[in-house]
Amino acid sequence: MKDLASAFTAANASVFAKLGLDPKHADVRRSDRPDLGEFQANGALAVAKAAGKKPQEVAQSVAAEWTATDLSPAPSIAGPGFLNFKVTADALTKRAQFVADDAHAGASSVEHKRRVVVDYGGPNVAKGMHVGHLRASIIGESVKRIYRFRGDEVWGDAHFGDWGFQMGLVITALEDELGGFDDKAKLDVRLKALTLDQLEAIYPAYAKRVKEGDIDVRDRARKATAALQGGSELHRTIWKAMHDVSMAAQKRDFASLGVDFDLWLGESDADPLIPGMVEDLDKKGLLEDDQGARILRVANPGETKKKKRDDGTVVEVESPDPLLVVSSEGSAMYGTTDLATIVQRMRDQKPDLILYCVDQRQADHFEQVYRAADKAGYAKRDQLEHIGFGTMNGPDGTPFKTRAGGVLKLQDLIGQAEEKARQRLKENEIGGDFSKEEFEDVAHKVAIAAIKFADLSNFRGTSYIFDLDRFMSFEGKTGPYLLYQSVRIKSILRKAEEQQIRAGAIEIEHESERALALALDAFDGALRAAYDKKAPHFLAEHAFNLAQAFSGFYTNCPILPSEGAVRASRLALAAATLKQLTLTLDLLGIDVPERM
Ligand code: ARG
Repeated sequence: MKDLASAFTAANASVFAKLGLDPKHADVRRSDRPDLGEFQANGALAVAKAAGKKPQEVAQSVAAEWTATDLSPAPSIAGPGFLNFKVTADALTKRAQFVADDAHAGASSVEHKRRVVVDYGGPNVAKGMHVGHLRASIIGESVKRIYRFRGDEVWGDAHFGDWGFQMGLVITALEDELGGFDDKAKLDVRLKALTLDQLEAIYPAYAKRVKEGDIDVRDRARKATAALQGGSELHRTIWKAMHDVSMAAQKRDFASLGVDFDLWLGESDADPLIPGMVEDLDKKGLLEDDQGARILRVANPGETKKKKRDDGTVVEVESPDPLLVVSSEGSAMYGTTDLATIVQRMRDQKPDLILYCVDQRQADHFEQVYRAADKAGYAKRDQLEHIGFGTMNGPDGTPFKTRAGGVLKLQDLIGQAEEKARQRLKENEIGGDFSKEEFEDVAHKVAIAAIKFADLSNFRGTSYIFDLDRFMSFEGKTGPYLLYQSVRIKSILRKAEEQQIRAGAIEIEHESERALALALDAFDGALRAAYDKKAPHFLAEHAFNLAQAFSGFYTNCPILPSEGAVRASRLALAAATLKQLTLTLDLLGIDVPERM
């Protein structure tokens, strides 16, 4: 069954067609003037000119032709020719009943199933996971769930950063620490004792040295990277130890965030494909030598940008920059592995679409890679899409850091949120009678809901300020508020069950019941928008609207204290709301506790 806006649009389109007006302009939407009608169409204004009539006249002829369907009586006309529709109680009743009975709570599926890979998370081996990867994980997980829920075949891939320069850098650091790699037994012992904390200390220390101009370290690290990629057994052994230590920690982090992948692959997994790919690119005449490196130009003729040179002069250069395929040391670069990963995915998953949920600041990188893939014939440009997002900022408006100025580890962030959740639960006198285990589980769920909802309630492109106090409020547009509302409905349903009160046929009458039915109806529209735009905030918005509508309904329409068919109907409405709300939250990656 179609949602009401679509049903209205279809009915209006046939009226338009009958009158010889372009049905493309027959769109009916939820109105921002509910006092005039819950739905509205503005198309009379758009088609009037072509029809050689005044918008008012067109609107009148549409209204006259609109035989009162069971959706609505003939629309009223406002202003210069807006059509306002008041939906019938009967249409609302039918729609709410459908939502109540439907396993997908009224959501439609895609018409044509696609095969989709979602590349998200993307933590780096040896660097640990930090808040920079939080948004990628949260948004990517939600997009993956939304695509899967609508019927596509979806693979989430973590695409670990496990093959770049940072690997060579840590290998170089270990070499210094051990005074060389000649003593195999010593190396063995060192690798067995390796921890992620150590890696997270070693890496930035050496990265800093390179940044500060230590050319010796830089060159050795580059050589080590090339040796690793060239297949040196020693380097591979060290790499494997780093990889395994990081992977275990990251799996734990992802699990506590409620993020799961179908493919736990990394850049290194694309490596075996690189030599063949480079050969193929070469054969296709796509590679050029550039001071010892090999590059692939992706700019079209005339595409340029202004670039400031070191001496201050400004020059026109091609844009996007060429993709660096092989460095002068013979190493594969970030873009090379991304390109080879496309080849790998096309071979293994055969996707129609690959979505990359990565920081907006990498937009240029992806544009280079996608164009290169298109040129080489590995994928069409429109099969590849970067889902960029803004940064999570600190109070000063720049990307979030710890007090000491470092990057905050994900585990520490979750820990802080859990601590605040415990506090808030106690302030709200929740969970005093829970076992310690249940209390901790609820605190964890509240913490994750607060972090995720705060992130997903903004359009992903927007940066936002991390403000745990606000995110953790039990009132307003927050994760904890939505959990609280869901749990409240669960408790109503439990009470009904105890009193053996059964839900029955839905009958929409009261104004607050109408509002709730309209909110339930809006789920499919929000889901389709989230799907089309790869933007979960549409669903976050929906979850909040639904919870608000339920709250109004609950205040004005007593459920358990009412009687007979009214009570049965209201109970069914409450159950339908809970089903759709938990489903929506699940699509955002948020788990609801049993009680709180
Ligand atoms: N590891 C990368 C980083 O931390 C993110 C990977 C994104 N995915 C990709 N296919 N490049 O910046």
